[in-house]
Amino acid sequence: MTTNKPFAMDKLRFLYVIFTCLLVVEEGEGLKCHECEYCNRPGGVEATVCEQSDQDYCVSVIVRDKERNAKGQFIPDGKDIEVINRRCKTAEEGFLERRPLFCEVPEPMQDKQNVFCCQTDFCNSHVPKLLNPPGSEDDLQGSSQFPEGIVVAVIVVAVVVVAVATIAFYYVWSRRKRNFVDEPVTDTTVDTNPLMGSQPSSLRELCDWSQSGSGSGLPLLVQRTIARQIRLIEVIGKGRYGEVWRGHWRGENVAVKIFHSREERSWFREAEIYQTVMLRHENILGFIASDNKDNGTWTQLWLITDFYENSSLFDYLNRTTVTLVGMIKLAHSSACGMAHLHMEILGAQGKPAIAHRDLKSKNILVKNDGTCCIADLGLAVRHDSRLDRVDILPTDRVGTKRYMAPELLDETMNMEHFESFKRADVYAFGLVLWEIARRCSVGGIFEEYQLPYFDMVQSDPALEEMRRVVCVDKQRPAVPNRWQNVEALRVIARLMKECWYANAAARLTALRIRKTLASMLEQEDVRVTV
Ligand SMILES: *[C@@H]1O[C@H](CO)[C@@H](O)[C@H](O)[C@H]1NC(C)=O
Ligand SMILES: *[C@@H]1O[C@H](CO)[C@@H](O)[C@H](O)[C@H]1NC(C)=O
Ligand SMILES: *[C@@H]1O[C@H](CO)[C@@H](O)[C@H](O)[C@H]1NC(C)=O
Repeated sequence: MTTNKPFAMDKLRFLYVIFTCLLVVEEGEGLKCHECEYCNRPGGVEATVCEQSDQDYCVSVIVRDKERNAKGQFIPDGKDIEVINRRCKTAEEGFLERRPLFCEVPEPMQDKQNVFCCQTDFCNSHVPKLLNPPGSEDDLQGSSQFPEGIVVAVIVVAVVVVAVATIAFYYVWSRRKRNFVDEPVTDTTVDTNPLMGSQPSSLRELCDWSQSGSGSGLPLLVQRTIARQIRLIEVIGKGRYGEVWRGHWRGENVAVKIFHSREERSWFREAEIYQTVMLRHENILGFIASDNKDNGTWTQLWLITDFYENSSLFDYLNRTTVTLVGMIKLAHSSACGMAHLHMEILGAQGKPAIAHRDLKSKNILVKNDGTCCIADLGLAVRHDSRLDRVDILPTDRVGTKRYMAPELLDETMNMEHFESFKRADVYAFGLVLWEIARRCSVGGIFEEYQLPYFDMVQSDPALEEMRRVVCVDKQRPAVPNRWQNVEALRVIARLMKECWYANAAARLTALRIRKTLASMLEQEDVRVTV
């Protein structure tokens, strides 16, 4: 019996055994990490300690960002700053499985953001370095610094000494056991590091990864880099603000909204709203980047988002009918999006309540799995709960007249009361529910696609016309008789009626709508799968 395995393999296995032993010795019960938000800034969230079970990570994140005010909004012409956050990350959240790239920032991006993950107590007091932005003066220093050279030399010497000692020890050891039969060596000796990631494979991954780091989207310089690599393919929509294009970024489709240069404020506002901390949600259109390009005489304002080939709910319903489950999925996912917007999340990683102000089937997109996401946040307002104020005071009535709530049409709405805006959203949502329900085919019966009030007002109704129909005559879209014969349609019909009460305070909340639709979805799922 001869041992003709390569020498290196045995050595590897031997080292592996030694290191495993060392790890076992070092393993403790809980891992303690520093935890703070904006750790390096006055007004940042105070340092605390988080303690997690033994498989988790301490993380420190450094981001190059633009100055923001106390509410987290960008300050126009703000300076570049470096922001440091420290966290605990629990393996339970599955966050490393979902974001394998988190701890390995690709080098080309290390000038905008860097992440350090480690697993010993308080190891995240270390902060990773940001590389200098390309083209900056001190770009070339760094790498040839004297102290680093010494450190490298010491490490090399240490490694050589350990290697020689190990080989000598191995020789003695292997001579002694020469006559034993070796077990087969498997590939597990060269375990791959679970933290090692490749380049970001998709934009979504990149955006999710940035959300978990800094909370509000990709750093501005990354956004600009992405924007400048996009190739425009075709126009897919036009509006008063500008055009929407389908574009390509490294083989992926993206939607590019290009604003007229006179619409700079809309562009800035929409980008600002999309970058509200913790806004990202599966039922809110995914924001990727915004950019302004100036060629001297002309400013192009871009807003880049996820692209969905099935386009808006309006187009989708006009083109196709849906099953009962299909209807509930469209309605439930839209309600989830609205509820996430409306909800205030408290805490360092919280989000303010947001009201959309232009909900309609044309501003809701249908994803490939038949669920929806809410788009066009350009008119949205945020609630400043500390001062109980709306973050911008709307000067006039905006939005789409057909979907305007009665209190907006007759100008009785209290514009300083944030709750009013949420109630107006719920009214509009009721109309969208009506549009969806008409296209629900049961036993081959359905209604043709129509906009709300199609039979009561003209195609581009004036405010006065809408006011007469909605406020004076108190009309609402008609509910067909057949809806009373189908349980799900009956519930949806009741929901929409409770959304469009004239008395805004009596309307359902987004949360209530979401819960009702969620339980309908469960019941339908049971019915279909049983
Ligand atoms: C800038 O862009 C606009 C629109 O694309 C174009 O009409 C104009 O000629 C450009 N100006 C210069 C100086 O390139
Ligand atoms: C979305 O569009 C694609 C291609 O046009 C189609 O295959 C898919 O079924 C559509 N999704 C839904 C939910 O209709
Ligand atoms: C539905 O689509 C057709 C064809 O594009 C269009 O002519 C029609 O106006 C649309 N329906 C409504 C209610 O807009």
